[in-house]
Amino acid sequence: MSNSGQNTRTGQGKLLEAQAEDANKKTPDQSLFSYKGVLYPCSVTSKETLQALQLLEAREDDLLIVTYPKSGTNWVCQVLHEVVHLTHQREPLVDALILEFGKPEKVEHLKEKPSPRILSTHLNYDNMPRSFFEKKSKILLILRNPKDTAVSFYHFYNNNPVLPTYSSWDLFFKDYISGNVCYGSYFEYLLGWNKKLDELNIMTVTFEEMKEDFAVQLEKICEFTGLPLTKEQIKLVEKKTTFKSMKEKATETNSKLAKAMFRKGEIGDWKSNFTEEQSQEVDSKFEASLAGTTLGEKLNYNKYCKF
Ligand code: A3P
Repeated sequence: MSNSGQNTRTGQGKLLEAQAEDANKKTPDQSLFSYKGVLYPCSVTSKETLQALQLLEAREDDLLIVTYPKSGTNWVCQVLHEVVHLTHQREPLVDALILEFGKPEKVEHLKEKPSPRILSTHLNYDNMPRSFFEKKSKILLILRNPKDTAVSFYHFYNNNPVLPTYSSWDLFFKDYISGNVCYGSYFEYLLGWNKKLDELNIMTVTFEEMKEDFAVQLEKICEFTGLPLTKEQIKLVEKKTTFKSMKEKATETNSKLAKAMFRKGEIGDWKSNFTEEQSQEVDSKFEASLAGTTLGEKLNYNKYCKF
């Protein structure tokens, strides 16, 4: 079982490297495209794939991780992978990559995958395949405070050949705050999901909660997904999915992109990048949009976003 897991991850590493090579041939202007008002990276997805996804047939027992980029997608994906590995005694990682990455044919390939499928996406609510909502699939929405997300995104842009490079943090910040980055505005993204929370089979967890209280959060995730683990198994999953062990594993199997995917894995790194003015700009944006909403409250903004 673990061998096939290794192969899956090695295959994923090769695919990412091929995509990076393809991206290297593109100029910065060619590396992103806009679809329904949102930017996407050309080397990993296409308008055709996004359209084909609308035909995807979701299942009631799909486990769908939804995140704005850089909120801990790979981490939670690996956690669920370990959980399903323990509860189903088989290799469950059907799509470690993001749902919208790949060719349109992936919609067909996904039909052949055994349940429970672990899927992840950065799509906003409006662009999601509707089938997930009709089938009431289990959605895990992972949030991270907007300031650490911004810093993580900046470094990801500069270390991932699939994305354009920014010559300074200040230039990236301007695009981030105005929503001119892949997957659009952080604030619009959360607001879009926030409006529909009551209609969905959804659980929200923050990156910060996972960092500070992993075992408790994993227990809640297990309850929500209906995949119970013993206390010992929870400890085992915690051990296997620490930042250090995930980074080491990624370096073994996917060395070129490991640096971009596993950078620091901390809370509060934003303080060494943000100016006071930039910090206030995000505060104002938060106040004008998410403050007082369910997801805004969940972010625990004053604890994680004040100097
Ligand atoms: P940093 O850039 O702040 O280090 P995503 O997977 O959505 O792209 O999120 C990437 C962020 O999650 C990166 O943040 C990365 O280091 C962090 N991360 C990945 N695995 C992690 C883990 N096991 N524990 C804590 N943080 C992790």
